[in-house]
Amino acid sequence: MKNNIFITGFMGCGKTSVGRVLSQRLGWTFVDLDQVIVDRAGTSIKEIFASKGEPAFRAVETAALAEVASRQSQVVSTGGGAVIAPQNREAMRGSGRIVNLTASVETIAARVTGDSERPLLAADASVERISSMLQGREEYYADADLRIDTTGKTIEAVASEVIDSL
Ligand code: S3P
Repeated sequence: MKNNIFITGFMGCGKTSVGRVLSQRLGWTFVDLDQVIVDRAGTSIKEIFASKGEPAFRAVETAALAEVASRQSQVVSTGGGAVIAPQNREAMRGSGRIVNLTASVETIAARVTGDSERPLLAADASVERISSMLQGREEYYADADLRIDTTGKTIEAVASEVIDSL
């Protein structure tokens, strides 16, 4: 069994920031799955959504995750929708542990407001829209070894919680 830590959670829950700190503390490789996709595609996520559509993005995401999951001693920050595809959840389950970061809807809304790089919230990043997306994804986010509410916590504090709990 591989020892990776996969960080899941909605946009704006601190996956990348926490993942980076966690990897430094553990001395492991940090992998930002969105960045792997951008490197592979040679263009931004916003551009992939615009030119090829979400299904094409999800296909690249699944391929990137499968490749990353074959290695070990990594902290992997996944994109907020990576948990949706069953094969992605299986890839993560079979390659380490899953840490799900959460935050209050208000916190998420405040963190993502004005961010034009997130295509799924570009047209509407209201509390209502975020709540409805969260509701649709909750069962997938709940499929984790550890869940941490990041609301009001520092990145360092969340990283410490992960280390203490795993
Ligand atoms: C997405 C989240 C984004 C990125 C893409 C789709 C989602 O990643 O993968 O825009 O479906 O929630 P972050 O959660 O890192 O913003």
